Amino acid sequence: MSTEGQASPPGATPLAETPLPDDVVGLLEGMSTTRAIRRYRDEPVPPEALRAMLFAATRAPSGSNRQPFRFVVLTDGPKAAAAKQLLAEAGRRVWSAKKVRDRYGEGSGTVANSPKARMARSMQRYVDRLDRAPVLVLPCLVRYREPSPTEGASIYPACQNLLLAARALGYGGVMTGFQALVEDHLRALLGIPEGVAMACTITLGRPEGRHGPVRRRPLDELVFEESWGQPARFAVDPPGTRHTSAGPPRSAGAAKPPLPAGAHTAERKRES
Ligand SMILES: Cc1cc2nc3c(=O)[nH]c(=O)nc-3n(C[C@H](O)[C@H](O)[C@H](O)COP(=O)(O)O)c2cc1C
Repeated sequence: MSTEGQASPPGATPLAETPLPDDVVGLLEGMSTTRAIRRYRDEPVPPEALRAMLFAATRAPSGSNRQPFRFVVLTDGPKAAAAKQLLAEAGRRVWSAKKVRDRYGEGSGTVANSPKARMARSMQRYVDRLDRAPVLVLPCLVRYREPSPTEGASIYPACQNLLLAARALGYGGVMTGFQALVEDHLRALLGIPEGVAMACTITLGRPEGRHGPVRRRPLDELVFEESWGQPARFAVDPPGTRHTSAGPPRSAGAAKPPLPAGAHTAERKRES
């Protein structure tokens, strides 16, 4: 199967005889530094890189090794253009609602260089240019039984493998749930059958500009030993770990009733 619009040029070694590219980022480093990348250079992702990313994705684990994951990859054909348009429109709707709901225009959101204002700019730019993302991947799950809360465990590890492989090769991407708003249109456009769940949307490309460090809570807040709430003795952040205050207010870490389905809280960390 060839990649839409990106057949090997005449004289090029066929992919079947080409090993995967060298990975210059170690596994641990890659896992610790991979971020959501929302800004891409206007350049295509070559077939060798796409092949490597999708190969890594499809080596992911799944329940009983059923391998129910499928990836619809869209680059530069007419369907790619249509799908990107649909998702850009969906993204703009999601972001407009979120901007208001999470008060991005208030408090520190009005201070030009605050994390909240930077996040808002990055999100706006992302949805404004989503139709130009070099690669769109729609990861899907072929259901073999009734939907269950754990079924995502057979598709999201593959998605993360994809993002890690992108990082390993100097690319980057981000997962969103934008497909949910235009699912019927995407199914019709791409021929995605009933019984196949559309798990998420991933855009990929060569990152534009510099991207800061991953911001996560300190290990001892997130890892327990022996009993809930008791920090593990080994839970010590390595030297140089920074930005460990990122995330929702501390009290939000306590166990409490879940938010309604569909609420995306990741960016609420940028509180006023
Ligand atoms: C389940 C899931 C849903 C996400 N949905 C969105 C989304 O709708 N829009 C978006 O811009 N980013 C989305 N993201 C990316 C997260 O916002 C991002 O990973 C998080 O804020 C941490 O940022 P970092 O990866 O740059 O450290 C999602 C990530 C996950 C895992």
